[in-house]
Amino acid sequence: MYDFKSIKLDKNQSQHLYIQLYKKIKELILQGHLMEEERLLPVRKMAKTLEVNNVTVVKAYEILEKEGLVYKRIGSGTYIAKELPQELNNEDDISKHQASVKNQLMEQGHVKVEKNMINFASATPSAELFPVEDFKRVLNEVLDRDKGHAFDYQEGKGYYPLRSVLNKYIKHYGIEADTESIQIISGAQQGIDIISKALINYGDYVVIESPSYTGAMAAFHSRGAKIIDIPLQKDGLDLETLEKKIKIYKPRFIYVMPNFQNPTGISYSISKKKEILNICKRHNIYIVEDDYLSDLDFNSNDSTTLKKLDNHEIVIYVKSFSKIFMPGLRLGFLVIPSKLHHNLLMAKHTTDISTSGLLQRAFELYLNKGIWQKHLAYMEEQYKERFLLMEESINQYFPKYVDCQLPLGGVNFWLKLPKGFSSNKLYERAVKENVIFAPGNLFFMGNQDEGYFRLSIASVNPSEIKYGIKLLGNLIGEYIDNKEELRKDITIKPIL
Ligand SMILES: Cc1ncc(COP(=O)(O)O)c(C=O)c1O
Repeated sequence: MYDFKSIKLDKNQSQHLYIQLYKKIKELILQGHLMEEERLLPVRKMAKTLEVNNVTVVKAYEILEKEGLVYKRIGSGTYIAKELPQELNNEDDISKHQASVKNQLMEQGHVKVEKNMINFASATPSAELFPVEDFKRVLNEVLDRDKGHAFDYQEGKGYYPLRSVLNKYIKHYGIEADTESIQIISGAQQGIDIISKALINYGDYVVIESPSYTGAMAAFHSRGAKIIDIPLQKDGLDLETLEKKIKIYKPRFIYVMPNFQNPTGISYSISKKKEILNICKRHNIYIVEDDYLSDLDFNSNDSTTLKKLDNHEIVIYVKSFSKIFMPGLRLGFLVIPSKLHHNLLMAKHTTDISTSGLLQRAFELYLNKGIWQKHLAYMEEQYKERFLLMEESINQYFPKYVDCQLPLGGVNFWLKLPKGFSSNKLYERAVKENVIFAPGNLFFMGNQDEGYFRLSIASVNPSEIKYGIKLLGNLIGEYIDNKEELRKDITIKPIL
């Protein structure tokens, strides 16, 4: 008989005790610690053993029963089901996916960039776009003004004047928050990591888009989360599947990029943005919104964030500046629902105590002096030129059977070779010609190569785009035209 005393529930956690208990028992069943037909402790005995009240146990058993994991025998008690529901039998697939995340990260490191390469792989701006001189001036001003204080530990939430100016900044995006809700982070990646640290218990489920940002998948995985990926449609997540999966897995949160998603460039329709909020509100689930790019809106005119639409404090907003400023600064911020302030602050503290005070102070001056607006306008102009050139070059040089949904903004173009062709093979050929891109398998949990690839405009200068796309177009043509036997599978679709 399993020793139920070893189940630990945390009364200080924001998650209800009955949900915690339901998840623990489910985990024990899935891991084989509780066997079919084994009897769970009667309600009162379980409640006494775990020092919770009877209702907690009753509610946990009810959810387990609803999911078909246990059943009741009248007058006898609650037993583990003889057969697990089909939906849960794909747990094996889930673990396989988890294992492949590590490989993906390693593979990501494989996209090696040599100096003479045309780099469509990196989604971070090239160094010649960095405002070095302007930043040098604000750094010097901070050092003259604050002297040694610039090198003190900063408060964990972040330098107050910076949080305050950021609060004004997000009002331009329609986000209403108080300064206390703003947490400075050392880059969005750290934000995602501390959210995971604060919210995920080993074995919890997290829902993501498929494909998704590799760095986030790796962070969730490192905290022991089981990741459920849901296919993206042209206008955002498949909502029917989302709600179904939420009902089955009761995830801790869903992680989404509603504007110019990485890697697909997809933007959610406004109706999907609203509906996702409704679904998550209905099921009491947080949404982690990664806004790494909504500033670069070239065609949509509606890069509304979920945070702007969030009336119920369920969105944790993550903002990175890496794509529009200097990634090596390692600065970003979160806007956090009030219930989570404390937990996230604790997670931040145990990670790095605080983000560099010197850089926060310099960035505050940079924003307050209005240099930021000038820089943003400059970056928009630079990226727009590249964006239009890319669109034109793909239209001109790529065979028509390469599929692409034109993004409405951002820096990524997501393309697909005809069925049966591998983007990894294309990559191998392209590297030999000194052109690189990001093969699509990097962004899928299962690491599958279905012919997708991502081209980014962030690190290529305009003079390289036409040449690079023409070369890639020729390589695609050669690769595909040499495979006569596969040509019958090709669906000819007009591009863009
Ligand atoms: C979608 C997404 N989120 C977060 C990050 C991490 O950003 P940061 O440099 O601010 O940590 C990246 C970096 O590539 C990204 O693509």
